[in-house]
Amino acid sequence: MSDLADRPVDPIVGIRAPHESAGLHVTGTAMYTDDLATLAAGTLTAWPVQSTSAHAEVTIDVSRAYTVPGVVRVLTADDVPGINDAGTKDDEPLFPREAMYYGHALVWVLGETAEAARLGAAAVTVEYAPLPSLITVPEAIAAGSFQGMPRTVERGDPEGALATAPFVFEGVTEVGGQEHFYLETHASFAIRDSEGQYFVQCSTQHPTETQEIIAHVLGVASNEVTVQSLRMGGAFGGKEMQPHGLAAIAALGAKLTGRAVRLRLNRTQDLTMTGKRHPFHITWRAGFDDAGALLALDATLTSDGGWCLDLSEPVMSRALCHIDNAYWIPHVRALGRVAKTHKTSNTAFRGFGGPQGVFVIEDILGQVAPVLGIDPIELRRKNFYQPGQVTPYGQPVKDAGRMHSIWDQLRHEGDIDARRAAAAAFNADSEHIKRAIAMTPIKFGISFNFTAFNQAGALVHVYKDGSVLVNHGGTEMGQGLHTKMLQVAATALGLPLHAVRLAPTRTDKVPNTSATAASSGADLNGAAVKNACEQIRGRMAVVAGRMLGVEAGDVRFSGGYVTGSGAQLPLTFTEVAAAAYHERVQLFAAGYYRTEGLHWDAERMTGSPFKYFAYGAAATEVELDGFTGACRVRRVDIVHDVGDSLSPMIDIGQIEGGFVQGVGWLTLEELRWDTGDGPNRGRLLTQSASTYKLPSFSEMPEEFNVRFFADAREEGAVYGSKAVGEPPLMLAFSAREAIREAVAAFGPAGRTVVLGSPATAEAVFWAVQASREAAASATTPAAPELLDAPR
Ligand code: MTE
Ligand code: MOS
Repeated sequence: MSDLADRPVDPIVGIRAPHESAGLHVTGTAMYTDDLATLAAGTLTAWPVQSTSAHAEVTIDVSRAYTVPGVVRVLTADDVPGINDAGTKDDEPLFPREAMYYGHALVWVLGETAEAARLGAAAVTVEYAPLPSLITVPEAIAAGSFQGMPRTVERGDPEGALATAPFVFEGVTEVGGQEHFYLETHASFAIRDSEGQYFVQCSTQHPTETQEIIAHVLGVASNEVTVQSLRMGGAFGGKEMQPHGLAAIAALGAKLTGRAVRLRLNRTQDLTMTGKRHPFHITWRAGFDDAGALLALDATLTSDGGWCLDLSEPVMSRALCHIDNAYWIPHVRALGRVAKTHKTSNTAFRGFGGPQGVFVIEDILGQVAPVLGIDPIELRRKNFYQPGQVTPYGQPVKDAGRMHSIWDQLRHEGDIDARRAAAAAFNADSEHIKRAIAMTPIKFGISFNFTAFNQAGALVHVYKDGSVLVNHGGTEMGQGLHTKMLQVAATALGLPLHAVRLAPTRTDKVPNTSATAASSGADLNGAAVKNACEQIRGRMAVVAGRMLGVEAGDVRFSGGYVTGSGAQLPLTFTEVAAAAYHERVQLFAAGYYRTEGLHWDAERMTGSPFKYFAYGAAATEVELDGFTGACRVRRVDIVHDVGDSLSPMIDIGQIEGGFVQGVGWLTLEELRWDTGDGPNRGRLLTQSASTYKLPSFSEMPEEFNVRFFADAREEGAVYGSKAVGEPPLMLAFSAREAIREAVAAFGPAGRTVVLGSPATAEAVFWAVQASREAAASATTPAAPELLDAPR
């Protein structure tokens, strides 16, 4: 009989496991926050009174609300026993005395039903004494309205390099924001038990911070508040900080009424009250040599922070740390500052400022390639980091060579050269429809810039029957983190997947957690889960070794069996668990992980904040209708580096979903505010799915090929895997660049196309008109309007 211990171990990581809730999702039976709320008896509903002024002092009279049948209580600033602030910066009053944006929640009405609460809110009278308001970033810049600390990433002598560079270009650009549009809007549900403990189920990416804010609003210690995040119906960064105040309202309502309170924003409330991706305003100058090598970049980035800081400063830091994307720029100065405007407070959104930083350099390369007369695919590759080079903030670019390999693999496997020739032939015969294919890379830093956040915990129980329950500090928002954690635990304990279950994320199980963000959920929590499982497995190995008559070190756990090195009959995991219990061996463990080797000076903006970089590249082919500006994505090819994938189906889903969400940001989704001086100044105009255009099935690429970069094991990361949640969003720049090249095909060669962002059909239509006019009026290539003539 063969030696059982030599049987190949089947790791559960790496198998194509379906999302652990897929069945529940597609049958509509998965429970979300508001489903739990409706299970409780006598639950009250909270409804906001929202400002109808962008900026005003308010005088509020709530008395009429109490005449509405079913209204139980109106919550106002006077009710706050602790600190009247919903954030961590002391600039975000939960019940404001001054309305800071159109839609700002001023007070909250609790009703027996949602309808009673809604009518009660409508009965509250608010008098507005209007104050001046700033709606756009240029208005804020002109008024000198900024918040937080400006930051600069700097290297070398950009002024000197720009003074001597053979080619210098400059421009002013704006890139729009983005609404998260998670399917589940913000929701919280609070109850208080007989001991006075608060239990708050919340759709939050950051249960610990939600707990802390609830505690400080209520004026109680953290150990009196438990926050649970069962699962979220999408978050995308929008639930990293924004849930806190809403959860505090629900908890405060529970305290004052002694009843359960639910708070779920309807779609319009969510759109008008919560923050979005930061729009950025960018001025830049870039220098190149004759061969197209980047010599210098000088840029000022101004983000629209909205009415309070929220995460605007770290979002800007990440933008500044990604302004290089995959490119070596010897001399850099990038200044980032946050404008203060009278709009919702902008926040984290997939990529966390990284996309806006990458936008700067990709936009520059896309604009200058035709003027330099260099093929954009060559221009980009020529400027990639070489091994041994360092980012502008001082971090060595580990595995820089991967970028070249990925690029060349994509060009070859995507059959790019032949397809570009075919597109050129098509365009030569087609006056009004043009096609183009563009490739763009991504290099994205993984870890929180803020070093302290790079730690995680887990709590793993093995029960006497051998079944396993896993708790960890990360939250599930659809990205598949729980699926990956089940795979990690099953692998570490040598169990089949079905033997392991996951419990909801709760602050009383794993404390002091970081937000599930920065794509690092699996890296951090996976390592903590693995650590807990390995402690238990080590203790069980001692017991099993005695039972099998072998050294503990020779015991193997695989497929639900525990084997020795000889020909002994295998034990089941359950037998060993039961024996360990009887021998009084601890069968549960707390796991912990901290990422080593990180350091970051947030003031000087230098250091090595990232454990590694995730790399990828995409090639996108579009077809553009010159009559309407409408674009169709004909084909997308992606090669992306996920290390050794923990869960390939999940990772493919993240790459596809991230890409499409990025294409939505860059080509479809346009937030519009009333910028006029009328009474509705500052009102969000795109406040429903009918006016805010999201990508849907019809915008999916007709052909979509996603490949993992092979043999990409990341040493020191959990089972060799890499983070995947955010980087693929930035592969969508390939779609924007393809549109730019298709627009260029309507005009003369050598002409820069300046493209609005988002490149909506309207913006593209006008860009096509400009190309056509240039073709009609110029026999020689015209110097682009926004660029300095090369010298
Ligand atoms: N995928 C889905 N389906 N839903 C989401 O809300 N959020 C994204 C990404 N993928 C998100 C998603 C964002 S912003 C981040 S930071 C990561 O998932 C967070 O999860 P991770 O760290 O486990 O990758
Ligand atoms: Mo993601 S923006 O880091 O939540």
